[in-house]
Order: sequence, then structure tokens, then C-alpha cells
Amino acid sequence: MANRLLFAAIIASAAVAVVALEGSTISFDEGFSQLFGDGNLIRYPDGRSVRLKLNRYSGSGFISSDYYQHGFFSASIKLPSDHTAGVVVAFYLSNGDVFEKTHDELDFEFLGNLRGKEWRVQTNVYGNGSTSRGREERYLLPFDPTEEAHRYSILWTANYIIFYIDDIPIREVVRTEAMGDDYPSKPMSVYATIWDGSAWATEGGKHKINYKYSPFTAEFSDLILRGCRVGDIQQPPSAEDCAESEVEILTADYAAMDPKKRAAMRRFREHYMTYTICYDTVRYSSTFPECDNSPSEKERFWDWGESKYVTPRRRSKRRSSRSSSRGPVEA
Ligand SMILES: *[C@@H]1O[C@H](CO)[C@@H](O)[C@H](O)[C@H]1NC(C)=O
Repeated sequence: MANRLLFAAIIASAAVAVVALEGSTISFDEGFSQLFGDGNLIRYPDGRSVRLKLNRYSGSGFISSDYYQHGFFSASIKLPSDHTAGVVVAFYLSNGDVFEKTHDELDFEFLGNLRGKEWRVQTNVYGNGSTSRGREERYLLPFDPTEEAHRYSILWTANYIIFYIDDIPIREVVRTEAMGDDYPSKPMSVYATIWDGSAWATEGGKHKINYKYSPFTAEFSDLILRGCRVGDIQQPPSAEDCAESEVEILTADYAAMDPKKRAAMRRFREHYMTYTICYDTVRYSSTFPECDNSPSEKERFWDWGESKYVTPRRRSKRRSSRSSSRGPVEA
């Protein structure tokens, strides 16, 4: 409860609506098609929402019909309820199907939960196959994500990336020269999947899926795909091809970071971020160029990157970045 009030306060302080949903959402068939899972993808009659199911036979997923070079990608997601240890729900951008060794990726991954415990969500950034340098961050969710849908959005521009939960920016990755090719640069598709991540999802794989509780169902609605559509991924679009779209994206509310939104982001991260690579000196000997580390913030984190103050009830086993975000599709 306290969590919810605080989140409401953070939202109020940001005082913006990231995107006026009306008019910008699309129907499922306008932008997406089923990727796998046969009967486990269920369309709602209105054509604007779908359910993705995971049962003991299969998970399911969908993919955007086009590749995009930069843009704003968003879905309202309601997560499966009850006991969901080992269940992974992901909403992400990737081109791993085309560039096996040099893929780019931007993720939201929901990592199952034990009954009665809070869900955690992870964000990640890969560029040009930088899988040996995972850029994970994990957060608690300040609401029950199984009770109602919340909006999760990824803004990807040539120079920065912002992850949003509802109208709160929760992570900003500003491109630095030192990041080099680690910054996602090639066109990507948008994916949503549900799959069995027993091997690592919940407390580093300690808690496996129990199919007694299946099917696990995630609902996706308010789908938004805005960006520069790319016809042939092997032929990256020219600046001219994307000029109009870039202007539309960069002038939208969701692309503007003002002091209020930064303050809201800081508060969110202070209260809900449980792990960041920026302070993980156990896994990484040098810091990441895009991390804006401060000594006073560092104080709040253990050497292995976990927050001293945001809940971790017990130290979760760390896992390798390789295992991250691999749905059955890309495995
Ligand atoms: C990406 O990685 C590949 C293989 O390591 C390398 O040849 C290439 O120059 C890198 N950069 C880009 C932009 O492709």
C-alpha cells in the first residue's frame, strides 16, 4: 500500500502523460503477427488485445510485421497471477533472428514470482552482440502487475534510450562515444513472449515452473508502434528515409526529459531499483561508460550491484548475462 501511494506521488510529480493513448494505439493485425505457440495466442474480439498463454506444451509470442529504425514502442501488460515462479514474460526489441552474432536488443523482462511476493522486472540493453556485457537493471514493481494492466514503453533514438513504466521514466541510457557499438544501432523487430525460464528467472533458477498452476496468461493491449519502418533489414535506411519519423519521435512528449521527469526517475530508482550493473564491481572490473556514478549513490549498493536498501530479502544468485532474454525463438 505504501508502495502504491509513493508511486502515485512520483507519477503526480512527473505531471506528464507520456503519450495520449487515444489515436496512437493500433490493432494487433495492423502491426503484429503470431510468432509461435499455435492456439496459445488468443485474440480478443475487438482485435486490439491479445492473450499469450504458457502451458506445459508451449509458450507463445508475437512479433511486429516490420523492422524499425528507432521509435517508441509500448504495450499495456497484465501479468499472470498467483504462483508464477519460472515464468518469463518479455516485451522487447531485437534483431537476433537476422544478426546472430552481432544482434541488438532492448528488453523489458518480467521474472516470475513466488506467490505473495513482489514481481520484479528487468531492463537490458545490448548492441552489436555485446552479450558478454549485460546491462541489466532490476526493479520491484510498486503495484500488483497482475491486478490490472500497466504500460511499459521503450523509446529508442539515435542518441538515447528511455524505458518507461506508465508515465515514469525509469531508466535513461544516453549514448556515449565510449559505448561504441554496444549501443543498439540496427533496425529491430518488436516482440512479446511468454516462456518457461525455469533455468534462471526466479531467484537465479532456484524456483522452477510448477505446471499445476498453468496455464499462465499475460494480456497485451494498447499496442503502439511508432518509428521508421524498414523494408529490408540488410539495407539500413538512409537518414532521409527516416527524417520525418525522427522528427515525429523526437518532438513527442515521451522523448523530452525535463527536470520534473528526471526527478521522478531518480525517485523511482531510489525506491525500487534492486540491481544495477553500474555498481557491480564483482562482475565487471571497469565501469560502464554510460553510468553516471556518484559516490553517495554508490554508498547505497553492495559491490555486487544490489541495493542495500531496496528489499532484497536474500541475495539472489547471480546469473550470466548470456541467459538473458533468450526466448525459445532465439535460443
Ligand atoms: C560489430 O561486431 C562485428 C563482429 O565483432 C564487427 O565486425 C563490426 O565492425 C561491429 N560493428 C558494427 C557496426 O557492425
